[in-house]
Amino acid sequence: MKIARFSRLGFILAAAGSAVGLGNIWKFPYIAGEYGGGAFVLVYLLTVLLIGFSIMIAEMLIGYLGRKDGVTSFEDLAPRNKALWKFGGFQGLAGLFIMIFYSVVIGWIFHYIVTSLSHLPSSVEEAESTFNTMLHSDVWTQLFYHTLAFIWITYVLTRGIKGGIEKMNLVLMPTLMIILLGMFAYAVSLDAFSRAVDFMFSPDWSKIDSDAFVTAVGHAFFTLSLGMGAILTYSASMEKGSNLVTNAFWVVFLDTSIAIVAGLMLFTFLYQYGSGPAKGPGLVFISLPAAFYEMGVIGNVFAVLFFLALAFAGLTSSVSLVEPMVQYFIDRFRWSRLRASVSMGLFFYLIGIVALLSNIDGYKEALTWGDKNFFDWVDHITAAIMLPAGGLVMALFVGFSIEKQRVEAALRPQLGIAFDAWYFSLRYITPVAMFIVMLSLMKVI
Ligand code: PHE
Repeated sequence: MKIARFSRLGFILAAAGSAVGLGNIWKFPYIAGEYGGGAFVLVYLLTVLLIGFSIMIAEMLIGYLGRKDGVTSFEDLAPRNKALWKFGGFQGLAGLFIMIFYSVVIGWIFHYIVTSLSHLPSSVEEAESTFNTMLHSDVWTQLFYHTLAFIWITYVLTRGIKGGIEKMNLVLMPTLMIILLGMFAYAVSLDAFSRAVDFMFSPDWSKIDSDAFVTAVGHAFFTLSLGMGAILTYSASMEKGSNLVTNAFWVVFLDTSIAIVAGLMLFTFLYQYGSGPAKGPGLVFISLPAAFYEMGVIGNVFAVLFFLALAFAGLTSSVSLVEPMVQYFIDRFRWSRLRASVSMGLFFYLIGIVALLSNIDGYKEALTWGDKNFFDWVDHITAAIMLPAGGLVMALFVGFSIEKQRVEAALRPQLGIAFDAWYFSLRYITPVAMFIVMLSLMKVI
């Protein structure tokens, strides 16, 4: 059987499609707002540069050398302790868990594309009550759009690497970039742009406590799609002879620039037409639509385009969240792609309904533990714990388990003298940094 492989551009856009997601456009601005901007953004950027980029190369390497699903790739590549290392590949499960809330949020976005066509809220209060009504009492609307998201994602997965994943990314990613850059250009022309730059880049270190720190590091993993096997699984279908370092560079570069462009644009709009940076998940669903209203007719056009771009970002990430487990069942159990895609799709779809209900009055109480409901717990456990832990396992695996000659043979030609620095950081700096994060996490929980 001929194995489908990504083209070079196809791979970069698919991996960037995985990385650029709700994390960049929905989550990043609101957590940056929550933790006061500047200092938080810098911690995040430093993590991306110092840890994220090197783990991105390591994760790509596991997939590229392994050529199989995560579990099999770990098992095949480990010279010793195969039975233990193969558990590294089960990180793919984290993707399915993320999908539990991810798909619900994509559902909200679909709903906002439709409503923004005809109506925008005339005040933040109206926007807030519209959003809260949907979130806390409108089961059917949420269920309808969550179902649409499930159908779309599952369909693309059934079409496979070339005809599904690559094809979707080749169309949606450039479109998303054009939309964002167009709106960004408009934002740059507004007076408030400099205030947005200030908010995002002048650090106020007093705002950084251990909670902010862990959130920034966790977000760096989340936004780069690291530590769960999405990048690994895509890399298993990378063309032979590809340059991993250039590919990793492009993915990190696109992901980071899109987060910054989106953040600057949103904060500019919020300063110019709204009430300034808002906090919390409601930022793009509450404050932003009210700001779009103030723009007049162009606001409607912008709102629809913005939510379309957000939906595209979310959908391209979603398929990469499910693909690792799909690939696992295909490689290990010889399931057909159709069967694997539909089963995995149903998994996140059905549990996603529980997450959706955990925001609904009447169900909320039963689905809340401590200070978080089911929806927020899934978000927290995956982003703050599972992904950094997965990243740590990957760093240790490439740094200590796979033979150095093998790693060197693959990467020295691409990294040159930087190879030694990269290898050292993967073995010592990254694990120590991750360990510190884990420690402060224990205090946070
Ligand atoms: N990177 C995606 C985002 O920023 C989420 C994601 C995480 C996708 C992990 C795949 C793997 O939204």
